[in-house]
Amino acid sequence: MEGIDLPSTMSRPDLIEYKGISMVHYFTDNWEKIQNFQAKPDDIVIATYPKAGTTWVSYILDLLYFGNKETERQTSQPIYFRVPFLEMTIPELPSGVDLADKLPTTPRLIKTHLPVQLVPKSFWEQNCKIIYVGRNAKDNAVSYFHFERMNFIQPEPGDWNTFLQMFMDGKKVFGPWYDHVCGYWEKKQTYSNIHYMFFEDMVEDTGREVERLCSFLGLSTPIEEREKITKDVHFDSMKKNKMTNYSTIPIMDFKISPFMRKGKVGDWKNHFTVAQNEQFDEHYKQKMKNTTLQFRTEL
Ligand code: A3P
Repeated sequence: MEGIDLPSTMSRPDLIEYKGISMVHYFTDNWEKIQNFQAKPDDIVIATYPKAGTTWVSYILDLLYFGNKETERQTSQPIYFRVPFLEMTIPELPSGVDLADKLPTTPRLIKTHLPVQLVPKSFWEQNCKIIYVGRNAKDNAVSYFHFERMNFIQPEPGDWNTFLQMFMDGKKVFGPWYDHVCGYWEKKQTYSNIHYMFFEDMVEDTGREVERLCSFLGLSTPIEEREKITKDVHFDSMKKNKMTNYSTIPIMDFKISPFMRKGKVGDWKNHFTVAQNEQFDEHYKQKMKNTTLQFRTEL
């Protein structure tokens, strides 16, 4: 399980409209099985809009639950096997559903980018814990742009300006960022088992966020262990670690851009022109006018 080989049949997919959101077939081909996925009450779901810090939080959870117990897991299983991506379906490879079904661990850690209205109903019925990570729209967009450039199961992003317009129009895989972050935020009002985290808070003080996670999860992880985890999940360590840096996955070309790219708050300032920023802010105000949800675009 050291990595996966790219099936010869793969090519960049077209953007399609599916259940009202933009998608690619790699995340919809297995739809029936995804929607009928049978959750267990102790499953933990890590839900995010793509590029909000999914891998970071996945690795924190993996270490909190299994860091001390299973060395083989830490040294030879890439994070995408330990924390399966539920809706991922690439020909000739085990689907996310199959990987999740076969997870031998308790709890099972499961990743999804589905917007809240498309999360399989079994997770709600079983009252599973859901950890949502949000990231400010500007940095999220920049990170997504570079990700599309280097990841061949995403459509071609075009140039930065084209990408940004499509992002604002909600025409990116997994739909509009605005609806995604607000959808889980609203759900939290009625479903108390959601822990809503922010990428910016994690950058500001990872240790504090690990502690908050433990408290949500009901874990009494000793402080020394939490401190060790905080060190192990530092950007530089994760970038070096083959099990967390995605270097074992052939659908990405690191010569174009690495998966662990910068890990910063405020990199958007290196991408947005003044005009783009003004237009984006105006549009953002409209899109987010009905929510109490707030993001920080700098620290
Ligand atoms: P950048 O492209 O801005 O560098 P996801 O896991 O949801 O795909 O998110 C990837 C983004 O999270 C990338 O952002 C990546 O560098 C960042 N990231 C991952 N691990 C991180 C860490 N330990 N510290 C800071 N940022 C991290």
